[in-house]
Amino acid sequence: MDAHRTSVSSDTATDPTVEATGQEKLVTSSIVSPEAVTQFRIELKNLDIYYSDFLAVQGVSLQVRPQSVMSFIGPSGCGKSTVLRSIDRMHEVTPGARVSGQVLLDGEDIYAPNVDPVLVRRTIGMVFQRPNPFPTMSIYDNVIAGLKLEKSRGVKKSSFDDTVERSLQGANLWDEVKDRLDRPGAGLSGGQQQRLCIARAIAVEPEVLLMDEPFGALDAQTRLMMQENLLSIWSEFGITVVFVTHDVDESIFLADRVLIMSASPGSVIDDLNVTLPRPRDPAMATGSEFMALKKICLDQIRAESLRAFEQQNR
Ligand SMILES: Nc1ncnc2c1ncn2[C@@H]1O[C@H](COP(=O)(O)OP(=O)(O)O)[C@@H](O)[C@H]1O
Ligand SMILES: [Mg+2]
Repeated sequence: MDAHRTSVSSDTATDPTVEATGQEKLVTSSIVSPEAVTQFRIELKNLDIYYSDFLAVQGVSLQVRPQSVMSFIGPSGCGKSTVLRSIDRMHEVTPGARVSGQVLLDGEDIYAPNVDPVLVRRTIGMVFQRPNPFPTMSIYDNVIAGLKLEKSRGVKKSSFDDTVERSLQGANLWDEVKDRLDRPGAGLSGGQQQRLCIARAIAVEPEVLLMDEPFGALDAQTRLMMQENLLSIWSEFGITVVFVTHDVDESIFLADRVLIMSASPGSVIDDLNVTLPRPRDPAMATGSEFMALKKICLDQIRAESLRAFEQQNR
C-alpha cells in the first residue's frame, strides 16, 4: 500500500494522546452513557444523502480525530457541500432532502430523534464560500451574533468585548477594524468580510468548524494569507476542521488527511495521509512529499472529472 494512504486499521488504532472532551451534550434527555466516549470528533457511518429521490452521496464512512484538519476534494457537483451540510444538519432544511446512515459527534448520533438540530448547528460552526455578514449589523455585533443566542451557556455581556477582540485577532482582522467596530460589516472588502465571518464562527468556540470553499472567491495572495491564518486559528483554538476545496494545493497544505471524492453519486475513493510537519510553510509546496500527493490527487480528480463530463453528456 502507498505510504500516504490511510488504512482503516491504522486510523482506528488507539491513540493515547486523544482525549474525550467535556462537550455540552446534544441530546436533551441523555441516551448516551458517560462511558460512551470516542476518540473521534466526527464519524460518518455509511452515509447516503438524498435530494428527494436523487442519490447525491453514497456510502460515505469516515472518522475525523479531534483537533485535526480533514479536507475534501473532488469534481464539481460530486457532493462535497452536501456532505458538509449533513454534518451540521443544514441539509434537511432543503425540502425533500434526507440522509440515511449515521453522523456521530463525539459518539452521539446527531440525527437521533431527541437531538435538537438547532443545538447541533450552534455546536458546529460553518463558513461558506461567499462571505455572509449580517449586512445591517456593525462589525462588533456581527462577531457576537452567535454568542447572543447562547443563552444556555450564560454568556455575560461584559465578556463580549474580550471575545470580539480575541476572535478578530484570531481571524487576523483586529488591526484593520479596531477603530471602527461600530461600522457596518457590509462595508468591508471581500477578504475582510470573510475574515469577519471566520471571527463570528470562532467567537462561539465551536468544537468543529466546517468550511465550504471559504477562500474560493479571494485573489491568490489573500488566499495564501487566509490559509496560513486558518492554520494559526486551528492551532490556537484547538478546533477540528473539515474543509472543502477544489484546489489541490490548498487541500494538501492545510490538512492532515485529504479525502478524494468520486463523481456523482459522490463516494470516497481515496484517503491520503499528509505527514508534512507543522507549522506548515508555503515553501513545502515544492518538496517531494507535497508533489507526490499532488500527483495522486490530480490524477484521480482528472479521471473523475472526465467521468462526470461523460455522465452529463450521455
Ligand atoms: N438543493 C438541491 N436540490 C437538488 N439537488 C441538489 C441540491 N443541491 C445540490 N444538489 C445536487 O447534488 C449534487 C451534489 O451537489 P453539491 O454537494 O453542491 O456538490 P459540490 O459541492 O461537490 O460541487 C449535484 O448533482 C447537485 O446538482
Ligand atoms: Mg460545493
